[in-house]
Amino acid sequence: MKLHYEVDGEEFAAAGQASGNIKKMLKQLGIASDVIRKISIAVYEAEINMVIHADGGTVDVDIQTDKIYIALKDTGPGIPNIDLAMREGYSTASDEVRDLGFGAGMGLPNIQKNSDFLKITSAVGVGTTVEIEVNL
Ligand SMILES: Nc1ncnc2c1ncn2[C@@H]1O[C@H](COP(=O)(O)OP(=O)(O)O)[C@@H](O)[C@H]1O
Ligand SMILES: [Mg+2]
Repeated sequence: MKLHYEVDGEEFAAAGQASGNIKKMLKQLGIASDVIRKISIAVYEAEINMVIHADGGTVDVDIQTDKIYIALKDTGPGIPNIDLAMREGYSTASDEVRDLGFGAGMGLPNIQKNSDFLKITSAVGVGTTVEIEVNL
């Protein structure tokens, strides 16, 4: 089963909508609560990143028999050094974004912790794709 969502980069207030909808859908499908918890955290963090660091993007979910695959794609500025970006506490968020409560630099480490597979593909000036898998 496949699901598709658009994430608006202008709308801070709406950030978290896609991950919230995915959570609801997985509950309806009777997916195990620990799987739902991991996916909700991982997708929320990646969704917020698309809003605060890029100009929004798309979320595609593929519910397979043995795992749930999620791809978050944006055409934002890209990540020049992914190893650095993965470090706990590393953030390029502006003071303005921090004042809104984002930019603690824990998003990517949290995605790593809450997924069974994580792949970040990024090119500066082109965009970023975050692929997440959680096993069922
Ligand atoms: N989709 C993205 N596009 C561009 N840069 C990103 C994206 N996601 C993450 N980054 C970069 O990786 C850094 C670390 O991300 P994260 O751990 O979520 O921390 P935070 O979002 O709090 O800054 C960000 O500060 C940013 O520089
Ligand atoms: Mg983040």
